[in-house]
Amino acid sequence: MSTVINDVPFVVTHESVATYRNGRNPRDGYDRGAGLKYRGLAQKIAAQPDFQAAAALAHDRSIVSPDRLMNLYMLIRLYLPRIAPGHIVEYGSFKGGSAMFMAKLAQHYLPGVNIYGLDTFQGLPAPDNSIDGLPPGEFASNYDEVTSAAKVAGLENLQFIRGLFHDTAPSVLTLCKNVALIHIDCDLYEPVQYAYDISKPFMVPGGYVVFDDATEASCLGATEAVENALIQRDGLHAEQIDPHFVFRYPPLKG
Ligand SMILES: C[S@@+](CC[C@H](N)C(=O)[O-])C[C@H]1O[C@@H](n2cnc3c(N)ncnc32)[C@H](O)[C@@H]1O
Repeated sequence: MSTVINDVPFVVTHESVATYRNGRNPRDGYDRGAGLKYRGLAQKIAAQPDFQAAAALAHDRSIVSPDRLMNLYMLIRLYLPRIAPGHIVEYGSFKGGSAMFMAKLAQHYLPGVNIYGLDTFQGLPAPDNSIDGLPPGEFASNYDEVTSAAKVAGLENLQFIRGLFHDTAPSVLTLCKNVALIHIDCDLYEPVQYAYDISKPFMVPGGYVVFDDATEASCLGATEAVENALIQRDGLHAEQIDPHFVFRYPPLKG
């Protein structure tokens, strides 16, 4: 059995009452992940004019796959409005595509929320060759071009911040105070773990921690950072594993 929730016609959820288990809401994970993969949500989302407008900004600017953009779409449209307000921080913006996608949606669904896109804009820093699979300098982009594209698109809620995360994240997070979603898309072991660790004290209860590349064939460093920091050290359980890892932090209680 399925039903419609939140007055949005394309979301399908189980009839059972949603309950928390091990700090996350498995039903929400099923609704999004299985909905996209098995229940036709992808086609329904693709037909939404607001998704199309946001995806047009990401076109040619993002290497984030369409199903992952759709999952971010659901988080921003349906799930973030249900938790305490907070800003969105992206670790790894490259040409700005996924950040612009989120900013376009947030303008409509999350008034007052800013999106911060952090990147060197000179590509990946040095990898740990014992676990990472990509070379330094991969994904180099152009800060001035990316910033100007966001301005042309009218995304006043989006700021790009140039530099290594170690140098930029502390002041961005202090400015934010409250963070509701982090999109960690930086491929390598050390930056992935750093992005998660530095953000933790700023996350609102049940905030969303989304990893783009921890399930990518070329990013075992990102996978190991999730295994070590979130699963083994912090004892977290994933709310969603497909099309990308989604965790809740601090874990949900009750
Ligand atoms: C896969 S790309 C991001 C893709 C992007 N989200 C999109 O929409 O296509 C990864 C980015 O992470 C950035 N990055 C990785 N480690 C970083 C670090 N320690 N500090 C700043 N940027 C970093 C790289 O410069 C690169 O642009």
